[in-house]
Amino acid sequence: MDSPAPGPAAEASIDMAVADIEEAKAESRIYCGIFHGKKMIGVVSYVPSRFEFRPVDAFILLLMIIPPYRRKGIGGEVIGHIEKEICAKGRVKAIIGTLHVNNPDAIRFWQKHGYKVVGGPEVSPGKSTVYRLRKEIQQ
Ligand SMILES: CC(C)(COP(=O)(O)OP(=O)(O)OC[C@H]1O[C@@H](n2cnc3c(N)ncnc32)[C@H](O)[C@@H]1OP(=O)(O)O)[C@@H](O)C(=O)NCCC(=O)NCCS
Repeated sequence: MDSPAPGPAAEASIDMAVADIEEAKAESRIYCGIFHGKKMIGVVSYVPSRFEFRPVDAFILLLMIIPPYRRKGIGGEVIGHIEKEICAKGRVKAIIGTLHVNNPDAIRFWQKHGYKVVGGPEVSPGKSTVYRLRKEIQQ
């Protein structure tokens, strides 16, 4: 994907995507394409419940929309769908995420959708410097 990667590598690549898909399978993490008609315009990856064996926690690992489709409400719509799916299962009480510190646009995005910075900056297992995000779910 032709887009800056908000992580340790300067650019996202097909190899990175393939490695992440394999990791997602191993972790029972959902990895989905986001489509506009037949065109793939982004990806999202999340754990809908039982993140790190905690039944009450979900985790959003990645949301990326390609540049021409940003700022059109698509990212917000995707997050809305994921939250609805997570809430429908009934046990989850919080959605957790991490966010690269050098990504002020994304910080605004997550805050707009009710996510609070609750930790960091800290070095993630993937060696990025991140903030920790959290949104409490009202069931
Ligand atoms: C962050 C991202 C997922 C947001 O998706 P999107 O479809 O562009 O977001 P939406 O259109 O639904 O929401 C836009 C809101 O996000 C924030 N935002 C997103 N991009 C912004 C930018 N470039 N400048 C300022 N605010 C921005 C604003 O709050 C904006 O609300 P506004 O338009 O009312 O000001 C997308 O920009 C992206 O893929 N960025 C690169 C990858 C990334 O950083 N992912 C997040 C970390 S996993």
